[in-house]
Amino acid sequence: MPDKLSEQLERILNNRRERHTLRKLKINNLVDFSSNDYLGLAHSKELNQTIQSHSLNGLGSTGSRLLSGHSQESVELEQFLAKFHKAPDALLFNSGFDANYGVFSCLPQPGDAIFYDELIHASVHAGMRASQSKIIKPFIHNNIDSLLVLINNYKNIHSGNIFIAVESLYSMDGCWSNLKEIVELVEKFENAFLIIDEVIPNSY
Ligand SMILES: Cc1ncc(COP(=O)(O)O)c(C=O)c1O
Repeated sequence: MPDKLSEQLERILNNRRERHTLRKLKINNLVDFSSNDYLGLAHSKELNQTIQSHSLNGLGSTGSRLLSGHSQESVELEQFLAKFHKAPDALLFNSGFDANYGVFSCLPQPGDAIFYDELIHASVHAGMRASQSKIIKPFIHNNIDSLLVLINNYKNIHSGNIFIAVESLYSMDGCWSNLKEIVELVEKFENAFLIIDEVIPNSY
């Protein structure tokens, strides 16, 4: 006799089946037009050999960096990345999803606002849902006027920080952001911060 939870889950799965939205994992060897391995490094023999020729500090982190997983290699990689991107500092995450979840769930404080482009990636939505900010609103894709209305409405009532979430290249739709206009707008406001989910290094 299936328990209540199993029945509920089966109903949800059936619903997905009917809507053709049930996903399945599959292994394929097709030409790659969709992965994140833009530079083909995942299968680079040269990179693989280089990694193997270095004596690594173990085969896993052994735990979170706060406990046992911190290492000199991580520090050096972060320093390299910061220098490469001419940034004051860098922080490594396990994946893009983790980075967006970490940033959006931690940075905005109660009373702050998050305004996001309506095409923003699902991982940003996950981070925003976990955020302490309760003022979370979309603006029309790439539409400066739509963003400006949100900023002005917020500023009329509140004085907190405003975080604006965009992608450089919207990965699910394949369209570019009008980043220059957005930067020019955001720079006009105090306490407004632009967070760019950049999937391809130096692509803009
Ligand atoms: C724009 C964007 N942000 C975040 C992610 C999540 O990155 P990851 O697959 O490394 O978790 C993706 C994944 O494709 C993405 O396209």
